Amino acid sequence: MKAAVLYEPGKALRLEEVELDPPKEHEVRVRIAAAGICRSDLHFMKGEAKITLPAVLGHEGAAVVEQVGAGVTTVKAGDHVILSFVPNCGRCYFCTMGRTNLCDTHAATGANLFDGTTRLHKNSQRIYHMGKVACFAQEAVVPESGCIPIPKDFPMAQAALIGCCVTTGVGAAMFSAQVQPGSAVAVVGCGGVGLNVIQGARLLSASKIIAVDINDASLEFAMRFGATHMVNSKAQDPVAKIRELTGGLGADYTFEVFGSAETVEVAFNSCRKGGTVVVVGLAPLSQRAAIDPVALVRFEKTLKGSYYGSSRPSLDMLRMVDLYKGGKLNLDDLVTRHYKLDDINKAYDDLERGAPGRGVITSF
Ligand SMILES: NC(=O)c1ccc[n+]([C@@H]2O[C@H](COP(=O)([O-])OP(=O)(O)OC[C@H]3O[C@@H](n4cnc5c(N)ncnc54)[C@H](O)[C@@H]3O)[C@@H](O)[C@H]2O)c1
Ligand SMILES: [Zn+2]
Ligand SMILES: [Zn+2]
Repeated sequence: MKAAVLYEPGKALRLEEVELDPPKEHEVRVRIAAAGICRSDLHFMKGEAKITLPAVLGHEGAAVVEQVGAGVTTVKAGDHVILSFVPNCGRCYFCTMGRTNLCDTHAATGANLFDGTTRLHKNSQRIYHMGKVACFAQEAVVPESGCIPIPKDFPMAQAALIGCCVTTGVGAAMFSAQVQPGSAVAVVGCGGVGLNVIQGARLLSASKIIAVDINDASLEFAMRFGATHMVNSKAQDPVAKIRELTGGLGADYTFEVFGSAETVEVAFNSCRKGGTVVVVGLAPLSQRAAIDPVALVRFEKTLKGSYYGSSRPSLDMLRMVDLYKGGKLNLDDLVTRHYKLDDINKAYDDLERGAPGRGVITSF
């Protein structure tokens, strides 16, 4: 089957035929229907984050089940599923306490499947599975716990986005920050994930939602998802502008959704006393943000990270499905570009250029 393989950071993804072994126990073989273009994959392509190579990237996907391995009971051939990039073991400390997005067995096995091996290979060369999903391909073998079944009439591009940017963004507002009605929110970085932080804050009745980006088109686009104010941080000092828009106080909740030390500092410095700073973006490995420890204490700020929106993917993704069906989440306008798998490198060029909304591969 065809897949987009990363062999070396800084080089384009190579589209080639690879082999995919049948699913083992508690694994599922799926045919990919849609795969979203998320910045997390780009971090690996640029060497800003590390993954064992060669690897098939892609972690925001929706698929149709083709074949199930031994012991699989929760899905069957023909089912439609959202793929989770943190499939979970159900037994480690974090799974036991209900923080399934932090599963330690998943972290320890990385881009292998749970048994420590890969199903992907090219002749004798092992190929790794990003997030145990690897959906930049025609097919994938994924753990059973990474398959979240959805109704067959649910649109697959929108389902794929629930696999990462929607659950991550809405979850950051809903579960990590627990945004209170009437509060002021600032969102630094308004791409696929940031737009979902914005619509999550809108859903939770924030009164002011300040969109911050370096790109005017992305700011305009963010107004459709509930932003009430726009700040172009290339043209204005974002910290001063957020303070001005919040009566000098700063925002109650600030979200960093680009992935850099600089934007983490903007989020920290534009949060008011007693407020909460949520970091969602993944900064390049070498960067360190300058956080004033005295400001943290004297202003009683809460600084927290948010991975997969602090969600329990198999439960909370179905809530996103229902919120979309109830007209409360706008996933239709989020999809702004459709691509063929063959055009994946162009899709990432468009992301780098800052094209608004989310691109999705819908033709394999
Ligand atoms: N925590 C998680 O679980 C999780 C999940 C998915 C993605 N991520 C990370 O979230 C980040 C955002 O991902 P995405 O797919 O939405 O990316 P994206 O490329 O779609 O969006 C990023 C946005 O940030 C804007 N931007 C760039 N520089 C900026 C600056 N200096 N100030 C303000 N805005 C700026 C860009 O114009 C763009 O609109 C990435 O780092 C990604 O790896 C984290
Ligand atoms: Zn993602
Ligand atoms: Zn676990």
